[in-house]
Amino acid sequence: MTRPRLVVGNWKMNPPTIAEAVALARAVVSAAPAGDVTMAVAPPAVALAMVAEAVRGTRVLVYTQDVHWEDKGAYTGGIAASMLAGVAVGTIVGHSEVRRDLGDDDIRVARKLARAIAAGLRVVLCVGESEAQHLAGETESVVARQVAADVAPLRANRERAAQLVIAYEPIWAIGTGRPATAAHATAAARMIRRTLETAGLPGDGTPVLYGGSVTAAGVREFSTADGIDGALVGGASLKAEEFGAIVRAFA
Ligand code: 13P
Repeated sequence: MTRPRLVVGNWKMNPPTIAEAVALARAVVSAAPAGDVTMAVAPPAVALAMVAEAVRGTRVLVYTQDVHWEDKGAYTGGIAASMLAGVAVGTIVGHSEVRRDLGDDDIRVARKLARAIAAGLRVVLCVGESEAQHLAGETESVVARQVAADVAPLRANRERAAQLVIAYEPIWAIGTGRPATAAHATAAARMIRRTLETAGLPGDGTPVLYGGSVTAAGVREFSTADGIDGALVGGASLKAEEFGAIVRAFA
């Protein structure tokens, strides 16, 4: 089965100014390889509009890093999915740093996912086990539990599931310089797809990305891994040339 390939740069809380975010976006456009791998950047919310302007008309798409689970109202600091029209084509949902820092559980992640998809956004849903769960051999059960709970609002809605991509991001591999192995990522991707099928969603047709210490030097491990269709890149996405090289590896 050939699935669409996608590489997303999650800039997290970087770079330090809007001007630098715009400069990085322009550099990403310059370093973008030709080919049919979809590529996107996810800047901090404050830089979204300016970055969207900087990449308009190029092959670089803009995602946001998170959305609110409600559509409007008294939610100080919140950004509703529907507010992103014309600015972002997609959003990351359920990143482990948001789960950790902002208290997102699977119920809230599921609500965010449903809001984003209803607003017409593409979604990169992040799942992945902690170091302790990894050491206890619980990767597949954790990932299955997260996926089942997070996609619950889409149940059997195969049309809406076309907007869904899942990123397998083991928490112990994020920002540590210790990526998972291809075999580990492949096993997780297999469990993700099995869980989607159980929910009445197209497992085989849903792209699965790997995230966690992906670099240009190490990307081949994942670009050649069975069942892995792209990457969600943190640190290395802040260097335009390196990000371009990571995208090229999936072409
Ligand atoms: P690093 O690539 O910096 O490990 O971050 C991965 C990540 O969390 C992307 O969402």
